[in-house]
Amino acid sequence: MSEWFETLPGLYDEVWNQLAQGAARKDVAAQQPTLSTISPDGWPESRTVVLRSADRSRSRLDAFTDVKSDKMASLASHPRAALHFWDAERALQVRIQATVAVCTGSSVADDWHALPDAARLSYGITPPPGQALSDALDYVKTPDQSRFCVLQLTVVHIDAVHLGKDHRRAIFTAANGWTGMWVSP
Ligand SMILES: Cc1cc2nc3c(=O)[nH]c(=O)nc-3n(C[C@H](O)[C@H](O)[C@H](O)COP(=O)(O)O)c2cc1C
Repeated sequence: MSEWFETLPGLYDEVWNQLAQGAARKDVAAQQPTLSTISPDGWPESRTVVLRSADRSRSRLDAFTDVKSDKMASLASHPRAALHFWDAERALQVRIQATVAVCTGSSVADDWHALPDAARLSYGITPPPGQALSDALDYVKTPDQSRFCVLQLTVVHIDAVHLGKDHRRAIFTAANGWTGMWVSP
């Protein structure tokens, strides 16, 4: 019986297993991945987000954000993102490339209504994220559904590295039907 990291299907299964766990639980690395985008003037930019859903059958990952956050301008000019997490417990690094669709309004009303009141406060801060303040706490948080946005990531490329006794690295792409191939780590 081989370990999950010793075969391409095993590694691919574990990547999606961790993404699914990340969308459901707080105690796994994939729950708070780093989402990277490209700014309108070409700078790479990264921030932590909460992974909200993971659907392997559709190669889809969702995150929530505020329509007035800076990442929106980045996604308007480059609708692509990278997602990264390092799972120290499993010695697994996952890097994902995805196209991004920005969804607002009635199409994401169910997600909004499912959010607890405290979580809704993250969407509607005044002044908007990134604006200058005269003092650190000189802002107010008022839930505003019109500020709520779902970033729908369609995964096109996965790079998985397992740092066990041996180091293994594999690449999985939509273009090759997710069968994967080993590459030098
Ligand atoms: C643990 C943690 C979780 C976060 N989750 C989210 C999130 O789910 N969505 C989000 O837009 N920002 C989240 N943030 C805030 C972002 O990291 C970032 O500061 C904010 O979105 C503004 O980014 P931007 O200026 O690049 O748009 C989180 C930050 C931390 C530290």
